[in-house]
Amino acid sequence: MPDERSTIRDLRTDRPTPARMYDYYLGGKDNFAVDREAAEQVLSAAPEVRILAQENRAFLGRAVRYLAAEAGIRQFIDVGTGLPTQGNVHEVAQAVDATARVVYVDNDPIVRAHADALLPSDGTTTVIEADMRDPGPILDHPDLHRLIDFTEPVAVLFMSVLHFIADEDDPHGLVAAFRDRTVPGSYLALSHITSPEVNSGGAAAAADVYKSRATSPAILRTPKEIGALFDGYDLVDPGLVYLPQWRPTIPDAAADGDSVWMLCAVGRRQ
Ligand SMILES: C[S@@+](CC[C@H](N)C(=O)[O-])C[C@H]1O[C@@H](n2cnc3c(N)ncnc32)[C@H](O)[C@@H]1O
Repeated sequence: MPDERSTIRDLRTDRPTPARMYDYYLGGKDNFAVDREAAEQVLSAAPEVRILAQENRAFLGRAVRYLAAEAGIRQFIDVGTGLPTQGNVHEVAQAVDATARVVYVDNDPIVRAHADALLPSDGTTTVIEADMRDPGPILDHPDLHRLIDFTEPVAVLFMSVLHFIADEDDPHGLVAAFRDRTVPGSYLALSHITSPEVNSGGAAAAADVYKSRATSPAILRTPKEIGALFDGYDLVDPGLVYLPQWRPTIPDAAADGDSVWMLCAVGRRQ
């Protein structure tokens, strides 16, 4: 695990990273020219990606608020955190209960650097720099165990990240590794790009840019493949849906959901 040994070279300023491209879509400033060029290439093939990123953040906010306020969850592991932005997981959860604890996990060293600078120093949050393709060291990490009590329910979040995990790296198995550490009544929440029924050209073209340029490819998966990630969980209403359709705060906003080709769901561990 890189941790303290991260160097400027590790920031990969030579190639676009998913974290910094996503920051650019969201209007952030924590990205380099190489990220902006690749992100613009994605946006010219699929202009809806900017909306998709905003809808994903909105789903993250609604899901965490549901988990804290309605499901009573007080501990969160947010895998594939991204760069700090508005409405981070601890801000949403701690608006419900100031003692809620959040462990952030990301393999991009720039995420760790920014999170170290921006996270509150009250001991309710931490950030671990690690690759989720190897879940063991994350689940055994002493910083995680300082905040997470696995005898109590935990929500594990994989928001807009599992499409960066290739089939050969077994996304199903790594989600199950987290599931198997948690008690019944724990939760899984995730979002994942899919092969859309409309505008499929945009999704495929966007994925091609990641494949040819970025530090990770992006893999479109079918609704069936995404639903299978919830093995061992019961989906809460409304099940696996397009981002705007998951418990919208303004119901009409969900009407054109399938133009946003990312699916999402929240499940309760059996
Ligand atoms: C599109 S961003 C999503 C950020 C945030 N979860 C959200 O939904 O707003 C994907 C994040 O996953 C991280 N990521 C990609 N592959 C990863 C891996 N193998 N291990 C840990 N993090 C990874 C990237 O560095 C990036 O920060």
